[in-house]
Amino acid sequence: MSSIPWSISEDSYDVNFSVPQVLRLRFTRDCFGADWDQIVPWFRSDTGAARIQIWIDRAVATANTQLLPNLHARLEEHRTHLELVSPIQCIDGGEQAKNDEETVNHIFRSIDRDGLDRRSYIVVVGGGALLDAVGYAAAISHRGIRLIRFPTTTLAQADSGVGVKNAINAFGKKNWKGTFAVPWGVVNDQGLIAHLPDRDFRAGFSEAVKVALLKSPSAFRFLCQHASDIAQRDWTAVMPAIRSSVLMHLHHITHGGDPFEMQEARPLDFGHWSAHKLEQLTQYSLRHGEAVSIGVALDTLYSHLVLGLDRADAMHAVQSLVNLGLPIYDPYLESHEIFDGLEEFRQHLGGRLTLTMLRGVGSAVSVHEVDNQAMEKAVGMLREIHEQALVNQNQSSPSSTSQTH
Ligand SMILES: NC(=O)c1ccc[n+]([C@@H]2O[C@H](COP(=O)([O-])OP(=O)(O)OC[C@H]3O[C@@H](n4cnc5c(N)ncnc54)[C@H](O)[C@@H]3O)[C@@H](O)[C@H]2O)c1
Ligand SMILES: [Zn+2]
Repeated sequence: MSSIPWSISEDSYDVNFSVPQVLRLRFTRDCFGADWDQIVPWFRSDTGAARIQIWIDRAVATANTQLLPNLHARLEEHRTHLELVSPIQCIDGGEQAKNDEETVNHIFRSIDRDGLDRRSYIVVVGGGALLDAVGYAAAISHRGIRLIRFPTTTLAQADSGVGVKNAINAFGKKNWKGTFAVPWGVVNDQGLIAHLPDRDFRAGFSEAVKVALLKSPSAFRFLCQHASDIAQRDWTAVMPAIRSSVLMHLHHITHGGDPFEMQEARPLDFGHWSAHKLEQLTQYSLRHGEAVSIGVALDTLYSHLVLGLDRADAMHAVQSLVNLGLPIYDPYLESHEIFDGLEEFRQHLGGRLTLTMLRGVGSAVSVHEVDNQAMEKAVGMLREIHEQALVNQNQSSPSSTSQTH
């Protein structure tokens, strides 16, 4: 009794406590080759070999035929302290992995069959959707199995890989089922994104533009200057853009004071109220990063019209998205349903509607209501810029076609 620091005669105890967490992030060039030694120390076990289950996005293994042989060779080299509990499992990634609950049920069954526990490791190599689905299954099973993420898209490397969220979609809504869980480690490997198709390669940089607009005028200038280089996959521009983006995300999560989003504002979701709705309305034919590009363009113009964001900055932001090869407009922006996205966004967080907007580059502000007329005006401006960009594109290469899905 004496070890309790409180009087036992009280009836009310409000006790603050915090849980120390470590989020390990490594940048590598050849994670299943020369750089593997950086990752091996993460796998610990007091009882012999560390038990590992591995999930790989099938598209990644198909695009990079060396990946599986290399990974097998590394596991073989370290087999005295790494025990692969079942053969590496390739699984379909993409949004379907989050839409079809059978994917997580399949993962649950495998976790149970292999007898994983809280000191086991689940390794997932894939795009943001598969990281979310496997991460959700790992977080739920036994209330949390250690998760190591190898993001394989620019979006997942620039943003979601270091996120402390995971989820699947339900009831036709994004991320309806999910948890907060800090990953054990995240490996951003340059080689893993080298084989990405152009469309997915470009998609992730909308999140880089988003976080730069929120946090850093210098990162924003870099992206404006190098948007075309990034679209052309110039690594000297690509890697700094991914690094600064993921580090700003990581800093926000670990030092922003609200990693589990208990407060009203969710600044990293700038541009996402319409993006999530567009993903749903287009039945996920738009990638998350593409929808975010449109959502960021929209809320940037709205911020100019309503909140005083400098016009030149707003136009540079939209132009940088165009130069990145990303969409800034979709016809569904003009549908009535788009505004349902505001209520769905509010419901997901609870409380009153809180959107992050911009007063300036690097100067975010929370707003609690939307001026629908101004939002519609911003949509009209985006349509015009989009149409003009198509004209320019067709003039410079007459055989090219529209990017609109
Ligand atoms: N948890 C978070 O904090 C968070 C943050 C942002 C986004 N997200 C989620 O991330 C998802 C989007 O992730 P994404 O943009 O990475 O797309 P994605 O995971 O849907 O991948 C896009 C496509 O590329 C394939 N692919 C992945 N890597 C590849 C590679 N290296 N080579 C060839 N093909 C490859 C996938 O199989 C898929 O078909 C959305 O569901 C979004 O909600 C989560
Ligand atoms: Zn996002």
